Amino acid sequence: MDTGYGTMMDQFQQLIERCRNLIEQQLRVFMRKSPPRPRFVAEPVHYILAKRGKRIRPVLLLLACKAVNGRIGDALPAGVAVELLHNFTLVHDDIMDNATTRRGRATVHTKWDQSTAILVGDELIALAYRSLLQAKSSRLRAILDTFTQAFVAVCEGQGLDKEFEAQRRVSLGRYLTMIEQKTARIVSASAEIGALVGGGTAQQVDALRKYGLHLGCAFQVQDDLLDVVADESRFGKTAGADIVSGKKTYLLVRALQKAKGADRDLLVRVVRRNALIEPNVPRIRAIYEKYDIFGEARRTAKEETERAKRAISMLPSQRGRAALNSFADLLLDRNF
Ligand code: IPE
Ligand code: IPE
Ligand code: MG
Ligand code: MG
Ligand code: MG
Repeated sequence: MDTGYGTMMDQFQQLIERCRNLIEQQLRVFMRKSPPRPRFVAEPVHYILAKRGKRIRPVLLLLACKAVNGRIGDALPAGVAVELLHNFTLVHDDIMDNATTRRGRATVHTKWDQSTAILVGDELIALAYRSLLQAKSSRLRAILDTFTQAFVAVCEGQGLDKEFEAQRRVSLGRYLTMIEQKTARIVSASAEIGALVGGGTAQQVDALRKYGLHLGCAFQVQDDLLDVVADESRFGKTAGADIVSGKKTYLLVRALQKAKGADRDLLVRVVRRNALIEPNVPRIRAIYEKYDIFGEARRTAKEETERAKRAISMLPSQRGRAALNSFADLLLDRNF
């Protein structure tokens, strides 16, 4: 029996692809009109903005706008703004995480140097505000407020992420607070701003904010999982980098709670960032396997995704809801 489900999925994937293309175009035009002048900053800015990211935040912003019956065209400057904010976080995050690879290429601070990467991040966040200020909306004040709160949250979340590196015991609750701030708040702000630009009611804006928050948490748990299980060339980041840097990922936090004996001793060496941990990455992967940590991470990401979907059940547009539901499923199924 043909349920039509396959065609529906294709239809939404097409919509998502269309949103991505619109964002690429808007980003190109915006950068042409706002070119950073010295080559010192222009070249690495273009390098990081090249068409290699998934663009999930701006796509979500456009989908949220459409879901409240807004015009996608009105949401493009804000879409570019959240993508620029995100790229700022990536460039600085790679310095903080000592990461050498991003989107399959050398990170900005390794291709250039740290001072270049600091400046590139600063430039990106400044450009993000410039684009946001071009949003055609009577609610610009609320939009700026949401954006700024997310910017502050990501800095504080990154602070917790660094603080946790040195801590032996991090509870799941504190881990969740950290990922909510460093990752979910920008995703949530993207959905919320889309709803604001689209003229959503207060209740709709709040529903989309919650949707983004759950989706963002699912996204980070999945990112933690992909660090260990993804195909490196597809993922575009060095496999096992979180293990080597002793990051308190979902996997490590749970494994520290569950593992016993020699398994636990090895995990404690990860926490202490023992220099010899790199050759032990396959053993740590085996520990995660043994204690069903991968399964738990997948189930947690799935649960958060279901919570996200439930948060938007009140949206009036059936098509809008369906598009956001399939967007959530696509993120959960991703392998990069
Ligand atoms: C990476 O984000 C940083 C996290 C919050 C996990 P993305 O996985 O969205 O990165 P790009 O933009 O697609 O490269
Ligand atoms: C994601 O942290 C949050 C930010 C980038 C702010 P990660 O450190 O896990 O991101 P990736 O894995 O380097 O993309
Ligand atoms: Mg990080
Ligand atoms: Mg990182
Ligand atoms: Mg990561």
